[in-house]
Amino acid sequence: MILITGGAGYIGSHVNKALHKKGYDTIVLDNLSHGHEYAVKWGEFIEGDLSDSDLLKSIFNSYDIQGVMHFAAFTSVSESIEFPVMYFKNNYKNTLNLFKNMEIANINKFIFSSTAALYGNPESIPITEKNKLNPINPYGKSKLMVEKILEQKSKEKSNDFNYISLRYFNASGADPDLEIGEDHNPETHLIPLTLDAAIGKREKIAIFGNDYNTPDGTCIRDYIHVCDLAQAHINAFEYLQENFENSDDIKENSVFNLGNGNGFSVKEVIDTCEKITKKEINKEIANRREGDPDILIADSKKAINVLNWKPKFNSLDKIVETAWKWHKKLNRNI
Ligand code: UFG
Repeated sequence: MILITGGAGYIGSHVNKALHKKGYDTIVLDNLSHGHEYAVKWGEFIEGDLSDSDLLKSIFNSYDIQGVMHFAAFTSVSESIEFPVMYFKNNYKNTLNLFKNMEIANINKFIFSSTAALYGNPESIPITEKNKLNPINPYGKSKLMVEKILEQKSKEKSNDFNYISLRYFNASGADPDLEIGEDHNPETHLIPLTLDAAIGKREKIAIFGNDYNTPDGTCIRDYIHVCDLAQAHINAFEYLQENFENSDDIKENSVFNLGNGNGFSVKEVIDTCEKITKKEINKEIANRREGDPDILIADSKKAINVLNWKPKFNSLDKIVETAWKWHKKLNRNI
């Protein structure tokens, strides 16, 4: 059985579905501060918080858990700038509590939901795992602190702890069966907000800055489908299992970027949304949003080679198509 913390959230719920399709049993732990109970359609669900040691102990004692996939975290860059301490408490301190209880229960396989925000304003593009880590917001810093602890933990000779940290670029799209999808409240991400404008839920989409150092002046991001991210978690877990005895290999290969390797500007994303929805979308140029790097594009060769990972939704059209279908379902009463 695999424990998925934050499995009621956007990425965690897609991973839960993918694990079930592959025959794994899962248990989801989520405090529902941002996730949705409706999104836990597979496995068992326990509502609770990672700060609750008694709950963690009872879960680890009651179930035969082979490994933990850890998604539970706050994920908004702008919110993290406003409430940094809240981010360090939830994303870092609560993760330490999870580690403590995993250690007591002798659970030693861990997959971490990390982020491209670790790279800050990258010194070179595309970004490899060797790029300098220099997060420019508290969200990225809180995730980097967890990665640093993971590195230390896995080096300690006394325990046979192994982990893989997956650094996502811009997670997007939805389950093609439309059972689950992106449903943040409040929503802050470009694609769902643009689709809100297409569906009439909001008047327009604001383009946060058109004076970046990019060809059209708007920020460039690498959008990666959430189902491709989900598949990478399964590949990573199986890699950990297969190579556990040979843990030096895993220690060499514990961190992976996950992106498509293509960059799209904010304007290009909005154009694609107009094409897929066949609607004209109102847009306006607004001020820059604090904490946004100009360009983030992944080099994911390591995941492709070592984890045998191959993104299937390898075009922005395919990503926006699934996002749009889900968006219409989610907002069918509008
Ligand atoms: N943007 C707009 N208008 C909006 C919303 C976003 O112009 O209304 C722009 C942003 O400024 C940015 C781009 O669209 O340039 C993408 O923004 P998102 O909010 O969709 O995503 P981010 O790139 O800010 O962040 C996402 C995740 C983070 C992660 C980061 C790493 O939400 O958790 O990717 O690449 F750290």
